[in-house]
Amino acid sequence: MIRIEGGRRLRGTVRAAGSKNAALPAVMAGLLTSEPVVLENVPHLLDIECALELARALGKEVTWRNSAVVLSGGEALAPEAPEELVGRMRASFLALGPVLARQGEARMPLPGGCALGPRPVDLHLSGLRRLGAEFEVRGGIVWARASRLRGATVYLDFPSVGATEQLLLAGALADGTTTIVNPAREPEVVDLGALLTRMGAPVSWHEDRVTIEGQRELGGAEHRIIPDRIEAGTYLLAGAITRGEVAVAGSRPDHLDALLAKLAEAGVEVESADGVARVRANRRPHGVHVQTLPYPGFPTDLQPPIVAFLTTAQGRSSARETVFPARFSYVGALVRMGAQLQVSGDTVLADGIEVLRGASVDAPDIRAGAALVLAALAAEETTEIRGEEHLSRGYEGLVEKLRALGAEVCAAP
Ligand code: UD1
Repeated sequence: MIRIEGGRRLRGTVRAAGSKNAALPAVMAGLLTSEPVVLENVPHLLDIECALELARALGKEVTWRNSAVVLSGGEALAPEAPEELVGRMRASFLALGPVLARQGEARMPLPGGCALGPRPVDLHLSGLRRLGAEFEVRGGIVWARASRLRGATVYLDFPSVGATEQLLLAGALADGTTTIVNPAREPEVVDLGALLTRMGAPVSWHEDRVTIEGQRELGGAEHRIIPDRIEAGTYLLAGAITRGEVAVAGSRPDHLDALLAKLAEAGVEVESADGVARVRANRRPHGVHVQTLPYPGFPTDLQPPIVAFLTTAQGRSSARETVFPARFSYVGALVRMGAQLQVSGDTVLADGIEVLRGASVDAPDIRAGAALVLAALAAEETTEIRGEEHLSRGYEGLVEKLRALGAEVCAAP
């Protein structure tokens, strides 16, 4: 449980961790070769441990060197992924493409992960089918076969992050060029492309598509994972909701444009320069309207955190969720803390109140948990948040970083 005494204005600077969502597919890229792949700036998080455990179960040697992960070995990969690991985290499903490309077969349980409504993998499977894979789904397990993957053009109905990553991973070892039309362009996907290029499969981005030139074999590489924009955004919102001043160093402010623009619109002072993003909020902000969209639109992962911030803005705000329409699991907990929120279809409406009050609440997933932490930092009195294991899936050193900014927070038994 995390206990927070709210009402302190946060001030100071924190350093961004490496991006969880960029590190996860990068670990899967390590499955594509038996040469060493060295990933720098990997955050210490439960989700990363889960991905590394999966890589080990499939036959890789995995070692940590400070914040770098080295993946090596694995001349042959096990074709079957343990159900327990894939069930725990959706990103594990990205092992399908690499295992299939290297072994010609793969057995992969359908994925688990955050409770964000139905999260199908139809785009992953139909895309891989275009590359020549054949599938059968039996008892919740995907049985995949492909004697050799061939490059093809795949059109995505929706620019899915996972499907784009899956197809880049598989395309890296396919015969010829794979083209993905309407790909996801999130910085984490672009980072995977940079890693695959370094491993020997050139990835190039065009206006409406991305291409990858498949190779018979890939080499090793050293790669530095980008900073985590969602973590950085969460700390900026912590500064804004507590009417404080917070800077995130070692970040990529250009990856935070959508958030910084909304904060500025709400009346928060924002500044970005040279790897540092900063907010200063000494007055009560006013309400704004947010809509989540694929990048460069407003990120769905910051929708719960920004709604927490908007609960104490002046007037009416709204957040429309178009990426994961069911992503409102945190609303009930914020209402218990006094927020005036109403969900109507894919939109949550907020009528700003002066101040939230502490309560005892449950974190149902990573970003919902982040929203509750933000609310607690600004609330009168004490808030106890259960389900902190969700927070440790996504936020490295959360308690220490918040303390460094002046928050009164402790991890209680
Ligand atoms: C990734 C991120 C997650 C983020 C999301 C959107 C990781 C580990 N997770 O998740 O934090 O919130 O991108 O930015 O990087 N969909 C389908 N069929 C598919 C695949 C997806 O219908 O085959 C739908 C999903 O149900 C969802 C939407 O597409 O409604 C977006 O999913 P996607 O972009 O694939 O997100 P993830 O890769 O799961």
